[in-house]
Amino acid sequence: MAFKTIIEPFRIKMVEPLRITTPEERYRILDQAHHNLFLIKADDILIDLLTDSGTSAMSAAQWARMMEGDESYAGCHSFFDFEKVVKDLTGLKHIFPVHQGRAAERILFSLIGGKGKTIINNTHFDTTRANVEFSGAEALDLVVAQGLDPELDVPFKGNMDTDALEQAIRERGPENVPLVLLTITNNSGGGQPVSMANIRETRKICNRFGIPLFFDACRFAENAYFIQQGEAGFKDWPIPKIVREMFSNVDGATMSAKKDALVNIGGFLAVNSDELSDQIRNLEILTEGYPTYGGLAGRDLAAMAQGLQEVVDQSYLEYRIRSTQYLGNALIKSGIPVLKPIGGHAVYLNAKAMLPHIPVHQFPGQVLACALYLEGGIRSVEIGSLMFGKKDHRGAEVPAKLELVRLAIPRRVYTQSHIDYVIEVIQSVFQKRHDLRGLQICQEAPYLRHFTAHLKPIQE
Ligand code: F0G
Repeated sequence: MAFKTIIEPFRIKMVEPLRITTPEERYRILDQAHHNLFLIKADDILIDLLTDSGTSAMSAAQWARMMEGDESYAGCHSFFDFEKVVKDLTGLKHIFPVHQGRAAERILFSLIGGKGKTIINNTHFDTTRANVEFSGAEALDLVVAQGLDPELDVPFKGNMDTDALEQAIRERGPENVPLVLLTITNNSGGGQPVSMANIRETRKICNRFGIPLFFDACRFAENAYFIQQGEAGFKDWPIPKIVREMFSNVDGATMSAKKDALVNIGGFLAVNSDELSDQIRNLEILTEGYPTYGGLAGRDLAAMAQGLQEVVDQSYLEYRIRSTQYLGNALIKSGIPVLKPIGGHAVYLNAKAMLPHIPVHQFPGQVLACALYLEGGIRSVEIGSLMFGKKDHRGAEVPAKLELVRLAIPRRVYTQSHIDYVIEVIQSVFQKRHDLRGLQICQEAPYLRHFTAHLKPIQE
């Protein structure tokens, strides 16, 4: 199109009201939630950027197909429709629906993980790491060094460090590495994509050692769009062709359909191996459900089948990636430190750079996330020392590498004026950043503490 304005390629048929709170109300709400945004009721949030997972707006076509969902226990036609869509998109052979991404992870790693094994990934998402470690295996992250520098503005920062991969396989012995994963896009590394060249190179190394390669495919369509736009040789390729080419390099995939299948719940595990497929089928029947529904309703399978077709639409992806960039670029222009380049599903504020006067053990990311709520009712999530900080053997806090605040954009939910409002709120907090003060934990759980911790402002 010849015009520079990228529009939302949809119109709105059904709306949900948003509740606008006063600053006084928000002070009280935040206080009652112990400065933990997970503990705030969603009704008390104005713009919810906590996650892009399960928060998509479904299309009229998805709702229509849900009405036709087949709720038969075994062999429902919704499964066969869904299976065909996934096979056409990915070329993978055996498709198992599951209730969400981590269910696929649990099945996969309980079959191939275990003590003495190492699973290698560009960066494990937290549930992936937790499921690998729960099986007794080691979860090793080998993203390229550039992927760890938030300021460095280079493309494909989600790539695997293939030299380090080769070395790690040699050190551990290929027989102890049952799987290599590529997370596309790399969520924990800032929503950064993996290039086709890197996928192919990783494949080559896996072939050399006879190790299967899988995708953690949650945001596969966003990754394909980055390849089309940013990697030489793919400009004229339609997205489904790029997706097919990406998947031609892997032996299987885990997928949380709550992201790029544009649904509120669902996922799948897909594999080429007949032997692994038999094992998955048996385990799935034991814990998720019969393999033609996998813990979902038939209508959920129908919504996924439709969503997977909509997500590879060129104008949808252009709107999607451009609107994330719209938010990120406006913040960069205002001098606000963000992780660069802007990823696919979220903008990450660099709280360490924005609040250098707050030491990392006083949780600058959480301070910033709370400030965005107080200022404008925005919910984001801290990805820093509250989430990933650890205790050493003496109980002292070991901080995370980065102190980030993620603003994840739900798909097809907010309009440009919502995002303009978010930009204004962040600019306003940025103006007052020197007045912000640190937080301390008063109560915490032994693991995944960020979900339930109670915090309070430090009094000087
Ligand atoms: N892998 C990646 C890369 C993810 O981002 C997620 C979820 C999962 C696996 C697990 O999928 O939630 O369906 O079980 N990410 C969400 C987020 C929770 O907010 O980034 P799930």
